[in-house]
Amino acid sequence: MNILIIGGGGREHTLAWKLKQSPKLNKLFVAPGNAGTDAIASNVPINVNDFEAIKSLVQKEGIDMVIVGPEDPLVNGIHDFFLQEASLKHISVIGPRKMAATLEGSKEYAKKFMMRHKIPTASYKSFTSDNFKEGLLFLESLKPPYVLKADGLAAGKGVLILHDLEEAKNELRDMLISAKFGAASSVVVIEEFLSGIELSCFVLTDGENYKILPMAKDYKRIGEGDTGLNTGGMGAISPVPFVSQEFLEKVHKRIIKPTIKGLHSDDLPYKGFIFIGLIKVGEDPFVIEYNVRLGDPETEVVIPRIKNDLVELFNAVANGKLNSIELEIDERTATTVMLVSGGYPQAYKKGIEIRGIDQVDESIVFHAGTQLKDQKILTNGGRVIAITSFGRDFREGLRKSYQNIDKIHFDNMYYRKDLGFDL
Ligand code: AMP
Ligand code: GLY
Repeated sequence: MNILIIGGGGREHTLAWKLKQSPKLNKLFVAPGNAGTDAIASNVPINVNDFEAIKSLVQKEGIDMVIVGPEDPLVNGIHDFFLQEASLKHISVIGPRKMAATLEGSKEYAKKFMMRHKIPTASYKSFTSDNFKEGLLFLESLKPPYVLKADGLAAGKGVLILHDLEEAKNELRDMLISAKFGAASSVVVIEEFLSGIELSCFVLTDGENYKILPMAKDYKRIGEGDTGLNTGGMGAISPVPFVSQEFLEKVHKRIIKPTIKGLHSDDLPYKGFIFIGLIKVGEDPFVIEYNVRLGDPETEVVIPRIKNDLVELFNAVANGKLNSIELEIDERTATTVMLVSGGYPQAYKKGIEIRGIDQVDESIVFHAGTQLKDQKILTNGGRVIAITSFGRDFREGLRKSYQNIDKIHFDNMYYRKDLGFDL
């Protein structure tokens, strides 16, 4: 099969690395890709939202399957685009259609979905500029901290957690009246604050059948001890030590089953990954959010633990035959540590040479924000490289990742040295 992966981060390099292991793969393309995917596939410089250019590439190269990494093209309807074009209809697209992608594209839509299907989540109310004053009164009725969420996609910055009532009111004003996040904050969801520990649950579904992938935990904050600004993710581990069989069963029964059933009864055909952001409150799971794709850097620890042939798995998704597959999972723990550009998640420099990648042994180097130029590997983003290792437990995995990081260098490189501190 000829396969195209859409995206260019660590998640897409990991998918490419895994697909390359399949004897069923013929040619592999990544759009736009990075220096990591360049070494194992053909990178094509196409923007992930340029559907016409993707169509031309698919036709020219005889691509049979398209795997969509990031949420943007899904929310913009790439799957529907393929279904609407006679010449593209037969091509398998892994990733949901626009309507189901709204589960990530609109927090209010996701909340309504969860309420309708009795899926445990924080209680909420949503507001627009029309009932802004009611929003202020609602805030007054709540206890701090206050959770304010821009309804639409805001590049991961649309969630504010505030401890002060006046500050919360001002932020609500900024979001609704001053369009702080543009159209994304024309609706704001205000919800109950849940206190607990977060984890990421991934489900692969063909719309009828589903497989629960290994659970993972990512580290979102830039600073050690989970302090400072939120990032896309500074590292991850899988499995998650605090997930017992009993907890997993609760997640399955209370969240995964009603989610799949809900997609069905709401007439939302879904072929792809569902990423359920969970929080464990006491012994009970609640949904923080749905994403309609794999997480990054969770992918860098979840996908390497899957022993199955990924082409076979995706074919089963495309053909509605996921029930014919038995998932085989590596029992070991996988850990990943993200190397980032100094300054990230705020301003940072790009184009800095990275050295020492070839010295790494016993770990896997997944490129995130990198670029190949004149035979040199340069930084090309905030999150630059993820170093994934296997171990008997997360301590052993992390030890290997950290040992290998010592061999890699680029100016102003930063990473968290305390992953696993909370476990
Ligand atoms: P989201 O973009 O929805 O993933 O939210 C970003 C982060 O905000 C989450 O990863 C949580 O750490 C936090 N968060 C979101 N909603 C809540 C909530 N209801 N209670 C506590 N923390 C939350
Ligand atoms: N690591 C969180 C995400 O991919 O959204």
